[in-house]
Amino acid sequence: NRVIEVARHAGVCYGVERALHLAHKTALKADQPVKTLGPLIHNPRVVKDLRLAGVSETSEIPTALEGGTLVIRAHGVRPDTIKIAEDRGIDLVDATCPYVSKVHRAARKLVDEGYQVLVVGEPGHPEVEGILGHAGSHAHVIADVKDLDDLRLSNRIGIVVQTTQTEDLLAAVTAQIIGQVEELKVINTICRATQDRQASALELAKRSDVMIVIGGRNSGNTRRLAELCSSRCEKTYHIEEAHEILPSWVEHATHIGISAGASTPASHIEEVLAYLLELLPSAQCVWERGHGQGRS
Ligand code: F3S
Repeated sequence: NRVIEVARHAGVCYGVERALHLAHKTALKADQPVKTLGPLIHNPRVVKDLRLAGVSETSEIPTALEGGTLVIRAHGVRPDTIKIAEDRGIDLVDATCPYVSKVHRAARKLVDEGYQVLVVGEPGHPEVEGILGHAGSHAHVIADVKDLDDLRLSNRIGIVVQTTQTEDLLAAVTAQIIGQVEELKVINTICRATQDRQASALELAKRSDVMIVIGGRNSGNTRRLAELCSSRCEKTYHIEEAHEILPSWVEHATHIGISAGASTPASHIEEVLAYLLELLPSAQCVWERGHGQGRS
């Protein structure tokens, strides 16, 4: 008796669903081009569907835009990006996830209170770039405790975190800094959907002999999910599409766990389940749906 089990919290989150909904709604009503600065979400298949619905991507530099409507992604942007778009007469639809806006407000508050801000996150990631725009001119991105080695820290440090980071990294960075400064203020801005997704993936990975994590290879949160799972389950595979699964991965497994990143729609999880059931027709499926959509 083989079991295929989907993590309690897996797949698309509230912020991504909201952004997709806003983009589709805008495209339906628009009589001029609807664009996003870069892919709306880090999932190539969903982006392809959006293109068919009339939402196209443009370069991440708003100065290239002429008129039309710009949908701001769930990742958010720097304030100067909004300014440039407004100056160019572009209509804006703000799909910034409310939890990302919360990070922006937290960073600004720390700057106003005189802290040097550190953003724990992935350098170059659009969400982190957006947060930096709110974090003052002395802000730095910390992707690893090693990044602290060459940094001159002020005496008052404030920390915010990219919403999809792991608490382990935040804890490691905090532990490293605490003895070096007079004051350290940490605002844990990892979003609830991320915490739930990571916790339930880890819990499932512990009980599984194979873990399959579904999501774009360009999706940072999916990659981190796969890394976390591989710390508990050696046979963890990160896939974008069901047909990437090789029969040899699962043929001897008795418990197969499935998790999915924040930009993976439920339909992609369904496809993977269907594919696995074709390979293992006698397996029993466990999917407590309705718990997977993060906070709403
Ligand atoms: Fe928002 Fe968290 Fe999703 S910040 S976009 S709910 S992963």
